Amino acid sequence: MTAFHYQSGQLHCDGVPISRMVGEVGTPFYVYSAARVRNNLRRLTSAFAPLRPRICYSIKANSNLAILRLLNEEGAGFDIVSGGELYRALTAGVDPAQIVFAGVGKTRAELEFGVEAGVAWFNVESAGEVERLNEVAGAQGRTANVALRLRPGVEADTHRHIATGGASSKFGMRPAEGLELIRRASDFPHLRLRAVHIHIGSQLADASATLAALDTVLDFISAVETFRQNVSTLNLGGGFPIPYREDQAIPSIENFAAPIISRLQSTASHLQFIIEPGRYLVADAGALVLKVEHVKEVDGERVVVMNGGMNALLRPALYDAYHRVVPLAAAPTSDISPLTSVVGPICESADVLARGRSLPPLAPGDSLALLDAGAYGFTMASNYNSHPRPAEVLVEGDSFQIIRRHETYADLTAAET
Ligand code: LLP
Repeated sequence: MTAFHYQSGQLHCDGVPISRMVGEVGTPFYVYSAARVRNNLRRLTSAFAPLRPRICYSIKANSNLAILRLLNEEGAGFDIVSGGELYRALTAGVDPAQIVFAGVGKTRAELEFGVEAGVAWFNVESAGEVERLNEVAGAQGRTANVALRLRPGVEADTHRHIATGGASSKFGMRPAEGLELIRRASDFPHLRLRAVHIHIGSQLADASATLAALDTVLDFISAVETFRQNVSTLNLGGGFPIPYREDQAIPSIENFAAPIISRLQSTASHLQFIIEPGRYLVADAGALVLKVEHVKEVDGERVVVMNGGMNALLRPALYDAYHRVVPLAAAPTSDISPLTSVVGPICESADVLARGRSLPPLAPGDSLALLDAGAYGFTMASNYNSHPRPAEVLVEGDSFQIIRRHETYADLTAAET
């Protein structure tokens, strides 16, 4: 059963009616199902089981401490991209040996923090970063494990903002640059250049671009061996898709994994593997609950103005992303009117959460839920127009707890002088 479903006509997250949370917490809030996050991790683990990968949850998708603690308890590792994410992971009690540190722009201070903490791997993206990391590790008298992030020159089938493997992408290095670093390995006495990393994009339509990238990676690994070096670990990144629309043809995680597994089992069975899923683990475990403030008619269509918009959930404005919008009480089909736009309060025409939706009669004070908002929802929320960010709630069975309170007006100015 999905985390969000109707029970006795009321929308629930697992065992809790959303309307109860609306009453006790107040909108806007994000709500996450702990059971669904656990279930997603188990399903992903079993889909990739033949490769026995270390699963490093990509914190950027949802970095609430309660989510990190939950995944830590389930045995996940973590993928971080900043000192702030490292701080969050450590605060959640994560063992640094379970952390991979990625990111295209790590500062010296961030590298120092990572080396000092003792993270397992640094996914490095340029020669300059390799040199900087070597200095930082040397200064601390440590040796750091390095994965070279390759730019395989593969255009993944996804939104252009989240494709990262193309020839002109800012991410990673060309294989030739990587080989040059391997050739110079003795210049970096404080590093172990032992792994290869790719991440070619997010919400990948299927595994085809990943398989194309693997051709490049496997060639690279053979070339490394000609320098009498060896690669121990291959980090495949994240990007595993979820269906945002009811009818969206997205491969199941098992079908996505199968061709990758068979390719790697036949050619690279001596390697250890890491994967960095973000969206797959948390997206469908979360929803954003907003309240209707106004209902108006524009050009013959109904427009409902909510108490949160692109400030709370940026994905529709930034990627034209689709999120299902559902009422808290199941409505008889006779009551549903099509062509409703759901918009936010922000002074931008891009602040439209959904267009052309079929929804029941709505009045100020009613609430709606935007589904599949557990990934890249709260983490991309902002205070634009000086709106406090939504609260966050975690459901465990038939109880719930607030895992992030509503921001206050005082929070808005707290860091200002
Ligand atoms: N590893 C690396 C190096 C990444 O850059 C990312 C995501 C991931 C793993 C996790 O990817 P996932 O499994 O979640 O697809 N804000 C966008 C998605 C941006 C993804 C950025 N990198 C969205 O809302 O769709």
